[in-house]
Amino acid sequence: MSVNLKQNPFVVVWRVLDHCNLACPFCAYDKRLRFARRQVDEAEVFRFVDLLAQKQAGSERRHLISWLGGEPTLWKALPQVSAAAQKAGLGQSLTTNGTTLGSAKVRQLLLDRFDEITLSIDGFEDVHDGLRGWRGAFEKLRVGISKLREERESMGVSCRLRANIVLMRRNLGRFAELCHTLADWGIEEITFNQLGGRDRPEFFPMNRLRPADATRLAGLVPGLRSELVQKGTTLLGGDPYVRRIGDTTLDRPLAIGRCGVAQDFWFIDEEGTIAPCNFVEDHFGLNIRDLRSVQDLEALSDTLCSRQARFPAASCANCMSTQQVAKFAV
Ligand SMILES: C[S@@+](CC[C@H](N)C(=O)[O-])C[C@H]1O[C@@H](n2cnc3c(N)ncnc32)[C@H](O)[C@@H]1O
Ligand code: SF4
Repeated sequence: MSVNLKQNPFVVVWRVLDHCNLACPFCAYDKRLRFARRQVDEAEVFRFVDLLAQKQAGSERRHLISWLGGEPTLWKALPQVSAAAQKAGLGQSLTTNGTTLGSAKVRQLLLDRFDEITLSIDGFEDVHDGLRGWRGAFEKLRVGISKLREERESMGVSCRLRANIVLMRRNLGRFAELCHTLADWGIEEITFNQLGGRDRPEFFPMNRLRPADATRLAGLVPGLRSELVQKGTTLLGGDPYVRRIGDTTLDRPLAIGRCGVAQDFWFIDEEGTIAPCNFVEDHFGLNIRDLRSVQDLEALSDTLCSRQARFPAASCANCMSTQQVAKFAV
């Protein structure tokens, strides 16, 4: 069956390791935190990539694996695994803190194998460098992105450059200015999410967006989106997404009775646990080692959706999945 490129891809986000080289105070993988770091079983990744490619072959939908961490560019298996996924015809993306972009080898690997790369950039140097615990971060990202653009041109590949901004009190004031700067750097798509509180409850209360911040955000997004279009940059996250941010600042829950997220999206963690999002990883009790055939994969979305409807997870009473409210739509 041939893949319909107009249809949104089926996305599998895979957190392959929880090791990281930065110290972000809002993140569960901050290098200063002491816990036993894990990484995925590589043999299982190769096996799953092969099954996913078989599933794609029997569908019209493109399947895309999005590698996540920790810091996924530190994952030793990335060159071999991304080669296998590319050879199997799967799309690939990756979210990175950008610390490895100084390496020409890493840039070439990403440009050659990936449909898109998302860089995390939360502010100008005054905010981003200190927040991430990386001296010169903002300037190094600017240089890295500029090199990626030049090399993309010379390689004749089409890897899309994206940025993700975590919104919190200290960076909302310059959010629009930051988006314009990223557009001027040549970033083609910008996404944003609000600071979440689950991972670092000590950081959250003093930094989370307040209702007035969410109102301000809702007021600026439509105009900002139109301005960025003039520069060739898309600001993703439509009205339902922005409204949901407002609701969460008011601690208004979003209860989901029948979740359809698994029809478009699966999340896998370092242990191979698979679920419709990373908030319910343990609830479904499924591991990729249980998926032995392409038929198992083909049945999985329906299995996850019907299990959720019959036995919703505790987190479904206040769903925090950004997939639920279309973070990646306009
Ligand atoms: C966990 S990181 C892993 C990838 C990579 N190390 C990076 O920083 O881009 C994935 C994304 O989650 C964001 N993130 C981390 N902690 C967060 C939190 N508490 N709330 C919202 N976003 C968060 C990061 O900024 C990044 O864009
Ligand atoms: S760079 Fe990414 S994974 Fe590392 S601590 Fe920061 S947000 Fe977390």
